[in-house]
Amino acid sequence: MAILLSACGARICLSGRDNERLQLVLNALHGEGHSVLCLDLNGSDAVTDAIRHDAETSGTFWGVFHGAGISMVRPAKLCKEKQFDEVFSSSVQSGIAIARAMSLRGVIEDGGSVILMSSVASLRGQAGMALYSAAKSAIDGMTRSLAVEFAPRRIRVNSLCAGAVQTPMHEKLVNSLSQESVNDYENKHLLGFGTPDDIANTVAFLMGEGGRWITGTSVVVDGGYTVR
Ligand SMILES: NC(=O)c1ccc[n+]([C@@H]2O[C@H](COP(=O)([O-])OP(=O)(O)OC[C@H]3O[C@@H](n4cnc5c(N)ncnc54)[C@H](OP(=O)(O)O)[C@@H]3O)[C@@H](O)[C@H]2O)c1
Repeated sequence: MAILLSACGARICLSGRDNERLQLVLNALHGEGHSVLCLDLNGSDAVTDAIRHDAETSGTFWGVFHGAGISMVRPAKLCKEKQFDEVFSSSVQSGIAIARAMSLRGVIEDGGSVILMSSVASLRGQAGMALYSAAKSAIDGMTRSLAVEFAPRRIRVNSLCAGAVQTPMHEKLVNSLSQESVNDYENKHLLGFGTPDDIANTVAFLMGEGGRWITGTSVVVDGGYTVR
C-alpha cells in the first residue's frame, strides 16, 4: 500500500514495530522525503505523542491508514483479559490514539482522509471469532462517530471491511486448516481470495479526490463474501 501510494506521489510516513522491515519498504518507495516511525501500537498515550512529534518534524499528514491488528480464533471460554487486551490494544485503543493525534492542530490537513482497517468479521458471525469481531465492530462504530466529529474540517473517516486477503495473517490461518476447509473458505468469496493490491487500490481511491464525498462508512472489499 505504501509503495502504491508513493507511486501516486504521496510522501509516506511508514509505521510498524519492526525496524528492519520498515527499512526494506522504505527502500522500495518511489519519490523522496519519506520517513519511518518505529512504534508499538499498544494503545498508549505515547502513540499519540509520537504521531504528533512526527507531524511537527516531517510535516502535516494528508491521510492516515491504520492497518495494525492481530487475528485470534478461539472459543469464548478461552477469551480471557490477556487475549482481550492483545486484540483490542493494537486495533481499537490504537485507533483512538491515532484519532486523538489527528484531532490536534497541525497534525492532519483539513480535507484529509482517515482509513481504519475493519473486516467482514464485523458484519458476519463465526464460531471462535467473538473477540476479533468485537474489535472490528468497534472500529466500524468509531469510524461513524469520528466522521461526525471531524466533518467540520472536512476530514473524512472510513473503514474497510475486508474479506480474506492473502497476507501473512491469512497464511497462518489457512495453514491451520485442511485443504477441503480452505477450498470451502475460498469458495465463499465469489471472486476468490483477495490480494494486498485490492486493499491498497481502495485506500488510494479513498485518500484521493475520488473519495471526497465519502465519509462515515464501512467500505466492503470482500470479493463477494458477504453478498449471500
Ligand atoms: N488478511 C486478511 O484476510 C484480513 C481480512 C480482514 C481484515 N484484516 C485486517 O487487516 C489488517 C492487516 O492484516 P494483515 O492481514 O496484513 O495481517 P498481518 O500480515 O499479520 O499484518 C498485521 C500487521 O500489524 C502489525 N501489528 C500488530 N500489532 C501491532 C502493534 N501493537 N504495533 C505495531 N504494529 C502491529 C504487525 O506487525 P508485526 O509483524 O510486527 O507483528 C503486522 O505488520 C489487520 O487489521 C487485520 O485484522 C485482514
